[in-house]
Amino acid sequence: MRALVVYESMFGNTETIARAIGEGIDASMHADVVEVGAAPDTVPADVTLLVVGGPTHAFGMSWPSTRRDAAQRVTAVVSRDRGIREWLGGLPGATTATEATTFDTRVTSRVTGSAARAASRRLDRLGYPMVAAPVSFRVSDITGPLVGGELDRARAWGKALGAEVAARRPSRPIS
Ligand SMILES: Cc1cc2nc3c(=O)[nH]c(=O)nc-3n(C[C@H](O)[C@H](O)[C@H](O)COP(=O)(O)O)c2cc1C
Repeated sequence: MRALVVYESMFGNTETIARAIGEGIDASMHADVVEVGAAPDTVPADVTLLVVGGPTHAFGMSWPSTRRDAAQRVTAVVSRDRGIREWLGGLPGATTATEATTFDTRVTSRVTGSAARAASRRLDRLGYPMVAAPVSFRVSDITGPLVGGELDRARAWGKALGAEVAARRPSRPIS
């Protein structure tokens, strides 16, 4: 029983949130937090909780063109290879009992498109049961920083997710 947190990040804010979610999950089960460029192309069978997150770009998941736009704003970006759109696009349908959920970061709190909602729809189509609704974490401007309190909220969200999945999967069979 373990969790896999796959994140995409241009300026580091989503990476920071992903690590905080992983810390929260760690209270219940081990969580591997992996940048999307290094993520496995299939979800390993021992992963009971899959959490996927990225920055909201143009009301959804990033595209190569929006990542190029982001790259022009800073000297180096975190995710240089691919985004969660491409990773999810290559992921085969679910074959294990992995439960999943998604998160994103974004500037606006207005009800507009969100990378997390788009990623959640994709995972749902692939047959992953959703353990929780998609969640957004706020940055104060395009390159950050995170809005105050968001790291604690991410840790608490991760803790609740881990606890919920672990409660349904006792680590030792009951004899
Ligand atoms: C090309 C581009 C498009 C963006 N589009 C949106 C958007 O539609 N809605 C929004 O709230 N934020 C938008 N943002 C802000 C990003 O969500 C923000 O840069 C991201 O949350 C920062 O996370 P990161 O540091 O992990 O890259 C956009 C940013 C870029 C660079």
